[in-house]
Amino acid sequence: MDNQIVIALTKGRILKETLPLFAAAGIEPIEDISKSRKLIFDTNHADVKLLVIRGSDVPTYVKHGAADIGVSGKDMLLEFGGADLYEPLDLDISKCRLMTAAMVGKELPVGRIRIATKFVNIAKAWCAERGIQADIIKLYGAMELAPLMDLADMIVDIVDTGNTLRANGMEPRDLIADISSRLVVNRASMKRKHARIQQIVNSLSQVVEASKEKVDS
Ligand code: PRP
Repeated sequence: MDNQIVIALTKGRILKETLPLFAAAGIEPIEDISKSRKLIFDTNHADVKLLVIRGSDVPTYVKHGAADIGVSGKDMLLEFGGADLYEPLDLDISKCRLMTAAMVGKELPVGRIRIATKFVNIAKAWCAERGIQADIIKLYGAMELAPLMDLADMIVDIVDTGNTLRANGMEPRDLIADISSRLVVNRASMKRKHARIQQIVNSLSQVVEASKEKVDS
């Protein structure tokens, strides 16, 4: 496997924006990923394979070297320990914001607050930095329901258009981080397969720069 490059991609919405970027950089799966139940795909390069997995698992695959390279949302890196990985490139796709949110106009209780989120580590760190006492309630989706049903006073979640918050009587409060998808690389792979990985990073970097220039002009 030493001459193989394994790239872990985040499935779902991020994948739809990732594949055209990779295609423009000259890396394409040889079959239609959306029409297959496979999890590992050959590409037009004999030495490059793609994994298609959940975003929350990408940092783990790359950290342990089961994948050399990953495409991961910054939210997942903040939550699941991206600090162990090289992050050579902001792919500038799947951009959104990680925010706190609460019911419109509602004051937060004095003292301990209840925060519902799937970003438990991020929420804990955010509270710790501000000396906020909080009970963190782990949810796996539909965080916006928690304040509505009085399960929580506040949520920590991804905000894109803000439509989900609005539709549920909520408003964004504090910005925790601007999010986009990042290219991450396993530290040992970066040393052992440096030339090939650098080639891939450079090709993707050129594509990202070109698409930024297109937007600016
Ligand atoms: C995300 C997020 C919000 C919504 C925000 O959910 O958790 O619910 O998108 O987008 P908006 O600001 O444009 O309304 P997603 O649909 O990814 O599903 P999830 O609950 O599984 O995270």
